[in-house]
Amino acid sequence: MNHQDEIKNNNKITTEAETTDKIEIKFENKNGLNNQKQEVKIDNMSDQDKNKNGLGEKWPEPIVRVQSLAESNLTTFPDRYIKPPSQRPQITTINHQPEAAAINIPIIDLESLFSGNKDVKERMSEACRKFGFFQVINHEVRPELMDAAREAWKSFFNLPVEAKEVYSNSPLTYEGYGSRLGVEKGAILDWNDYYFLHFLPLLLKDHNKWPSLPSNIREVMDEYGKELVKLGERLMRILSSNLGLKEEQLQEAFGGQDVGACMRINYYPKCPRPELALGLSPHSDPGGITILLPDDQVVGLQVRHSDTWITVNPLPHAFIVNLGDQIQILSNSIYKSSEHRVIVNSQKERVSLAFFYNPKSDIPIQPLQQLVTSNNPPLYPPMTFDQYRLFIRTQGPRGKSYVESLISPR
Ligand code: OGA
Ligand code: NI
Repeated sequence: MNHQDEIKNNNKITTEAETTDKIEIKFENKNGLNNQKQEVKIDNMSDQDKNKNGLGEKWPEPIVRVQSLAESNLTTFPDRYIKPPSQRPQITTINHQPEAAAINIPIIDLESLFSGNKDVKERMSEACRKFGFFQVINHEVRPELMDAAREAWKSFFNLPVEAKEVYSNSPLTYEGYGSRLGVEKGAILDWNDYYFLHFLPLLLKDHNKWPSLPSNIREVMDEYGKELVKLGERLMRILSSNLGLKEEQLQEAFGGQDVGACMRINYYPKCPRPELALGLSPHSDPGGITILLPDDQVVGLQVRHSDTWITVNPLPHAFIVNLGDQIQILSNSIYKSSEHRVIVNSQKERVSLAFFYNPKSDIPIQPLQQLVTSNNPPLYPPMTFDQYRLFIRTQGPRGKSYVESLISPR
């Protein structure tokens, strides 16, 4: 049995994984953003429902498609999507805050970086250390392919709800068409539907779990997946070298050629009360690197910078890159995973494609030896990504509280 018990200040995390019948994740974080006690129990599962993730085949409540809600003539806005006042977005003021206006999301030209431009390299290094977040241009992914991928998913989400239900997902693997993240009964939900699928490892890639419509979607997404894996590998080399390591180091720590790659396509329907809800609650991505293709027509992504939420204005055919928790862990917190969220609006629906480049899921991830010294002891205990992603898969998006809760005693 794999058992860890780490205590620092008021943070405590206990996980009992894999071989036990009853999987329990206890999670307390009194220092974090949310200042709340969190506890999830996943038990009472039939044998059939159990698997190595400890998540069952059923969601705790009947699933309601947000698209269906948005298309029905709601007379009152459903309680399940109303965030508590402190978490609601300040839609009318956010873009007018002078601090927000003064901060630019770094834009990184990969072509100049790879041809040896030191300034660009330095700018990217700084973005990773402070922000964990930047846009990339000249990234070598064809703009036509980006448009085709986005269009294919827009068509998919515009199919009638019944046509999508055949791909309905479960918390067991999350693959397919879904409408919630986390399995906590009674949770306040986010205003989005999504589709989740795997590219790598090849063992997990299954075209039958991908949509068959529109007719070109599988072909387009095969090419898109290949190109984004390549981009992921290139970004990994820069991240590694900017840490003063050899270029392959980070990739090796991810499992070499055995990395994971998956994707979450987000569909944010129009929301009649955007001031009460969120498209996606604050979170950091649990994995390695996220390469986001945002909607070309509608903004919505916001990044946290101290106490301000900055709305990202994507450049045409740029990708938005953000670092996930596994990079923060491997770099011993030299690089930061970014906290972000999505706001919605009443005028236009929004579609985004989030591609996740992740470590091999069953190897322990911990701060790289080269980055650990007596003055900089390892901040995080080893944990596999399979184990780590149980946090968000069971409890849903909760700021950066998961990675913060892991910090080891000094
Ligand atoms: C995500 C995410 C942002 C967006 O899927 O993890 O943060 O703009 N998406 O949809
Ligand atoms: Ni995200």
